[in-house]
Amino acid sequence: MFAHGRTFWDCAGHEPRLNHFINDAMASDAKLVMSVVMKYSKDVFEGLNSIVDVGGGTGTVAKTIAKIFPNLQCTVFDLLHVVEGLEGSDNLSYVGGDFFVSIPPADALLLKWILHDWSDEESVKILKKCKEAIPSKEKGGKVIIIDMMVDNKIGDDESIETQGFFDMLMMILVTGRERSERGWAKIFFEAGFSDYKVTPILGLRSLIEVYP
Ligand SMILES: C[S@@+](CC[C@H](N)C(=O)[O-])C[C@H]1O[C@@H](n2cnc3c(N)ncnc32)[C@H](O)[C@@H]1O
Repeated sequence: MFAHGRTFWDCAGHEPRLNHFINDAMASDAKLVMSVVMKYSKDVFEGLNSIVDVGGGTGTVAKTIAKIFPNLQCTVFDLLHVVEGLEGSDNLSYVGGDFFVSIPPADALLLKWILHDWSDEESVKILKKCKEAIPSKEKGGKVIIIDMMVDNKIGDDESIETQGFFDMLMMILVTGRERSERGWAKIFFEAGFSDYKVTPILGLRSLIEVYP
């Protein structure tokens, strides 16, 4: 499937069944994760006027945010074949594009399950584009990442097995990897960000606020 230099995401753009399968799987995960985020960490969205969900799929995450924060302008930004034909609402819109080229500007950007798909080098490129799209730290600019943070100190066997499984899956399907806090910090600082804050949210998943 990945012959001729195509990425997993290029393949999805040419294979409608794979495209729908990925989008449905992501939407289902997004419902679960967002129910937890909105219950315990809703304050990360407070005070923002605009947010872009970068690689936001068909918009499940952004729809949840837009409903709970009606004054927050939410944009779902993803590849054209993912967002083509999707209808927004008063405070939700869809924009097609490539996050390696440019990202629509906003007070904050959300990246849920994006950077673990990409190598450190590619992730730093994406993060640099993120930094160009947000205001300074003093003006409230930030990137909100929801992703896996591996921790070898987590004692139970199932967690360790899950971490290993995801790490292998990311290496086989895409060019990514799972990262420890040290691995995350390395790419944040390489991309020019100055600080970050981690909040564990669900199992191995954490919410990381990254500041320019
Ligand atoms: C693992 S999915 C995550 C979807 C969503 N954030 C979620 O968690 O439900 C990764 C998303 O990144 C998008 N994507 C991949 N490459 C992209 C690119 N170059 N520019 C914009 N979006 C991209 C894919 O189309 C896909 O929707």
